[in-house]
Amino acid sequence: MQKKSFDEYYKPAEDTLFLADSIQNEKGKTALDIGTGSGFLARILSDNFEFVVATDINFSALQKAHEVVENCICCNASDAINCNFDLVVCNLPYLPSEEITDPAVDGLAEGLGVTTNIIKSASKTIRQNGKLVYLTSSLANYQELVRRTEGLGFSVRIMAKKKLFFEELVLVECVKL
Ligand SMILES: C[S@@+](CC[C@H](N)C(=O)[O-])C[C@H]1O[C@@H](n2cnc3c(N)ncnc32)[C@H](O)[C@@H]1O
Repeated sequence: MQKKSFDEYYKPAEDTLFLADSIQNEKGKTALDIGTGSGFLARILSDNFEFVVATDINFSALQKAHEVVENCICCNASDAINCNFDLVVCNLPYLPSEEITDPAVDGLAEGLGVTTNIIKSASKTIRQNGKLVYLTSSLANYQELVRRTEGLGFSVRIMAKKKLFFEELVLVECVKL
């Protein structure tokens, strides 16, 4: 993951493309991309979903995303949204960090602080049997994140892993029970 300053946005990278591959055949009515960055994933969802929403805490990112996605909301995770989505996706900021210097990548202790907050928020905006797909990494304590996700009422499986030079990307699929 590259580091970006707060007034820029996260450009699609290897992790973005890995998640994109896994969602390009998903279909339904409503989808949400949390932490949309450039809007790359939300744009892909727009091909197969009737109504797509993108959120980010970085307003500059949303300005970029709005070039390709109509419904953009600046908020923490999905806190501002009262809707039950068929699919929620998120390329999480998972890097372990002591503080949040770069919100695009910094995830606090064990890469769990920000990610748990986002998944908790997302869990309230997914319909029963709807799906949450998120991307994390071997650099984070992803096993604990999976346990926490199960505790929020999801059936969870690791969909795929991809080895990079210094980490392994971990793609997680969660079905709301
Ligand atoms: C790793 S980047 C992924 C960007 C884009 N989805 C992609 O795959 O290229 C993480 C994104 O999450 C956003 N973000 C971080 N914390 C967030 C939060 N609490 N709520 C919403 N978005 C957040 C960041 O601003 C950043 O755009």
